[in-house]
Amino acid sequence: MLSDILLINIFQTAIVAAQSAGQFIMENVDKAIEINFKGRANVVTDVDRGAEEIIISMVRESFPDHQILAEETPAINTSSPFKWIIDPLDGTTNFIHGFPAFAVSIAVEYNSDVIIGVVYDPVRKELFSAIKNRGAFLNRNQIKVSNIKTLSESLLATGFPYELQGNFNLNMDIFREMYQNSQGVRRVGSAALDLCYTACGRFDGFWEFDLNPWDVAAGALIVSEAGGKLSDFSGKDFSIYGKQVLATNGLIELEMLFNLAQVHK
Ligand code: IPD
Ligand code: CA
Ligand code: CA
Repeated sequence: MLSDILLINIFQTAIVAAQSAGQFIMENVDKAIEINFKGRANVVTDVDRGAEEIIISMVRESFPDHQILAEETPAINTSSPFKWIIDPLDGTTNFIHGFPAFAVSIAVEYNSDVIIGVVYDPVRKELFSAIKNRGAFLNRNQIKVSNIKTLSESLLATGFPYELQGNFNLNMDIFREMYQNSQGVRRVGSAALDLCYTACGRFDGFWEFDLNPWDVAAGALIVSEAGGKLSDFSGKDFSIYGKQVLATNGLIELEMLFNLAQVHK
């Protein structure tokens, strides 16, 4: 049984780690940074790695036996029921270009269930957080999804995978469908922020293919704790290990699923 004291201790460690990594990222904005290509457009910088080191060393110091799944370093597997899922810099391409939309994302699983999610935007100093069954917060204020009822009045968000093969044409078809049937579609470049913005009502819905657990684990908990709905593109249960995320305010979920079904057979 997980005690409240331990839960809060883990939550606070996640917050301090996200804020420390965020501060490090901001100290490196506009500096000459080393960029390495992981794929066609998929890049990693020494700032991604430095931020990840900061987070992992804080986690290891407080919880040396916990498992860690982080984007830039090999996974640490132990017999602990706790697993930290870390994206040290979500929105690296934006960061490199000085486009101010990137965030640190940290989630914690307990027995394969995400129980804590923290997303920190160091540009706006916005801390999105949630503990399972205890609501979602932006800084100290509780947040809720929007109450927009129709897709035609909705502002949506999406993202595109770095690689052009695979679902590329399908992605374009889905984009066309959503663009035609909504008030607008934004492509921010940080899936963690897309989810948090859906959680606090800035977006009414978000979909994306081919994300990784570290992109979505924290943000997905924040959406559901804000009263939103998550599924895959067929309306089946969402998994952070799956390759499809549909996050909505709940009210436009059926319409978005209908539009996805038009092109995603
Ligand atoms: C990326 C961002 C982007 C999404 C990409 C992700 P990264 O994460 O979340 O919005 O479209 O698929 O890989 O590489 O900047 O951590
Ligand atoms: Ca990411
Ligand atoms: Ca990243």
